[in-house]
Amino acid sequence: MKKATVYIVLTAVLSMLMTISCNQHHEAEYHSLKDKIEVESIDFNGVSITSEQYIGDITTVEVKEGVHSFLIPERKGQITSFPCVECHTEPLQDLQEEGKKKAHWDIQLIHADEEIMNCATCHNGSNMNSLQSLAKGAIDINHSYKLCAQCHSDQFKDWQGGAHGKNIGGWTEPRVVMTCVNCHNPHQPKIQSRWPSRFNTQKVKERE
Ligand code: HEC
Ligand code: HEC
Ligand code: HEC
Ligand code: HEC
Repeated sequence: MKKATVYIVLTAVLSMLMTISCNQHHEAEYHSLKDKIEVESIDFNGVSITSEQYIGDITTVEVKEGVHSFLIPERKGQITSFPCVECHTEPLQDLQEEGKKKAHWDIQLIHADEEIMNCATCHNGSNMNSLQSLAKGAIDINHSYKLCAQCHSDQFKDWQGGAHGKNIGGWTEPRVVMTCVNCHNPHQPKIQSRWPSRFNTQKVKERE
């Protein structure tokens, strides 16, 4: 047999096999579950089941990390002191005054040890509009998860897959998830423990 004939025969056999395997799984119409969800979520018995209605008017930015691609809420528009360069046009030393605090009174850093972390670990005095990586690269404030990922790689991996964090809307496309700083204040990230609500089984008089 000629090479071309062998190729044609092989292709025919392969496509037959593929059809059989799809039929066995009753998924003749779709080649994967993902395909099925994608097609049926556009019109599921006359109802659209995309996540769009839940996202509402949240402005989002795109995230592409490895095989994952999804949306996260935009941050800069939520930060009242942004753009930082409204004040940070001159070097920090010139803004600072010995023994005097002129700005950011509300910010207290309770994150890691003072020896390993201070404001300059994440902010760059000469490019305040962006965050700063450990290698002194600029990270867009909208993508602050990259900053956290440098030191918290386990949570970062879990977050990409959806095991850490929270979906906004549903599991149908488009997938929008909360970003790290939506839940963790970067300056005081620890989530404080809370008492669980308890059912009053002891017939103790509750507060009036
Ligand atoms: C209204 C003016 C103003 C704006 C807007 C502003 N800053 Fe500042 N910032 C200051 C001044 C003044 C200082 C000098 C230090 C002081 O007195 O606390 C300062 C200091 C800092 C410092 C150094 C603090 C230290 O103790 O070393 C950081 C970091 C900083 N700002 C980050 C930011 C970031 C990030 C933004 C934008 C999201 C921003 N600032 C927006 C006025 C401003
Ligand atoms: C672990 C990294 C990290 C450290 C350390 C850090 N920041 Fe930030 N900071 C961030 C991130 C991330 C944001 C953006 C948060 C957001 O999207 O709301 C931010 C936002 C800010 C803002 C604007 C929002 C606001 O809360 O007013 C100011 C001002 C600021 N930082 C100042 C400081 C100062 C001053 C210090 C030191 C005392 C400091 N930061 C230390 C990560 C850090
Ligand atoms: C330079 C490294 C570094 C960066 C960048 C960083 N962290 Fe951390 N983070 C630490 C260290 C160190 C601790 C203290 C760990 C401990 O106490 O077990 C910590 C503690 C935490 C904790 C509390 C952990 C606990 O056990 O409760 C949270 C939550 C957290 N970081 C979230 C973040 C988020 C969100 C960001 C990005 C805005 C971030 N971190 C950026 C190093 C970092
Ligand atoms: C929807 C809210 C939410 C988002 C988004 C989120 N976290 Fe968390 N994170 C939590 C809560 C709640 C805890 C506390 C869990 C506990 O105490 O059991 C936590 C715990 C942590 C801890 C402490 C260690 C642990 O696993 O318990 C770290 C570190 C952390 N988060 C980092 C991150 C980073 C980095 C991101 C972004 C890539 C992120 N988180 C996104 C809610 C969130």
